[in-house]
Amino acid sequence: MIYLDSAATSFLKPPCVAQAVVDAMHTVGSPGRGAHPLTLAASRTVWACREAVAELLGAYDPARVCFTPNSTVALNTAICGLYGPGDHVITTALEHNSVLRPLYRLEEQGMELTILPADETGNIDYEDFARALRPNTRGVVCTHASNVTGNTLDLGRIGAFCGAHNLTFVVDASQSAGVLEVNQQAVGASVVCFTGHKGLLGPQGTGGLSVAPDVTLRPLVVGGSGVHSYDRRHPQDLPEGLEAGTLNACGLAGLLAGITYIRDQGRENLYRQEMKLAQAFVNGVRSLPGVTLYGDVDAPNRTAVVSLNLGEEDAGEVADVLAQEFGICTRAGAHCAPLIHEALGTSARGAVRFSFSHLNTPQEVAQAVDAVADLAGRI
Ligand code: ALA
Repeated sequence: MIYLDSAATSFLKPPCVAQAVVDAMHTVGSPGRGAHPLTLAASRTVWACREAVAELLGAYDPARVCFTPNSTVALNTAICGLYGPGDHVITTALEHNSVLRPLYRLEEQGMELTILPADETGNIDYEDFARALRPNTRGVVCTHASNVTGNTLDLGRIGAFCGAHNLTFVVDASQSAGVLEVNQQAVGASVVCFTGHKGLLGPQGTGGLSVAPDVTLRPLVVGGSGVHSYDRRHPQDLPEGLEAGTLNACGLAGLLAGITYIRDQGRENLYRQEMKLAQAFVNGVRSLPGVTLYGDVDAPNRTAVVSLNLGEEDAGEVADVLAQEFGICTRAGAHCAPLIHEALGTSARGAVRFSFSHLNTPQEVAQAVDAVADLAGRI
């Protein structure tokens, strides 16, 4: 089997990640709930993970790195915790439904929403941010990297715009954390939301958000916090304020191992390796007759994601043949990102997405190119 679906989840992981999860299952109790040796071991693991995330993402303070089960919960927490009826929020057509759907739901409740369009290559016009401003504009929510094209938004530029207009800035780093440089302080992001199971190489069920010191979020979920148990209200101090319920300490042990591996290997080295593989794939398929590539595959600072279609074939059917006949795992369809597919002109049949890991090999990429060439020859 050749796994080329790392944008969905990094199935290919260094062995230390699974080992850390298993070790934790034998050695940690419930984090932040009491003071016996096993619970202290859990709390230490979770804190070490907060520090590792904070260092990697240029966060303000490890104590303001709050863990959630995934970036969808993190984004819901940020979006619903910041905005409400009467507010105006700006987002882009590159977004995943984990950004769009919370915003649509708030729109139904009276929030105003502007979605900046993308052109047929998936790019936005940055001047549109200023054109979208209204007196009640409160914030910008946007992805760092598209999960369909791999192209990125200029967070520094958007952050500067937000700073100049006193707007909150929520970044969806689901596709970029652990892969590209993400520096919350440098770009002035109010909140950076991340998932653990993609570029950070951790297990599924891990993720979170890093909250800037001047930002207060209404919690999405309240309940057990391990502190102030007699209060009727959930405590506001972070991280507990946004972490009701028992954390996934074993998963976070795995996430810590993933981030430690990235730090030891060098994030940029790993990124260079996977981009070399992605570029080899692009070079191998781009001139095949019948192949259409989407997005700007030659743009700098992109992720190792390549989406394509073959002739007029349905993307789902192509992905099925790739899996069944060639043993190649890709993801087809709309990728939970409907607006970018509309912009690319692929909403009817979707696209086949190949996404690469530094743990893939050049041989696997060559086999994927051969498979696409084979299928292109059949249409
Ligand atoms: N959002 C994930 C993807 O792009 C699951 O596949």
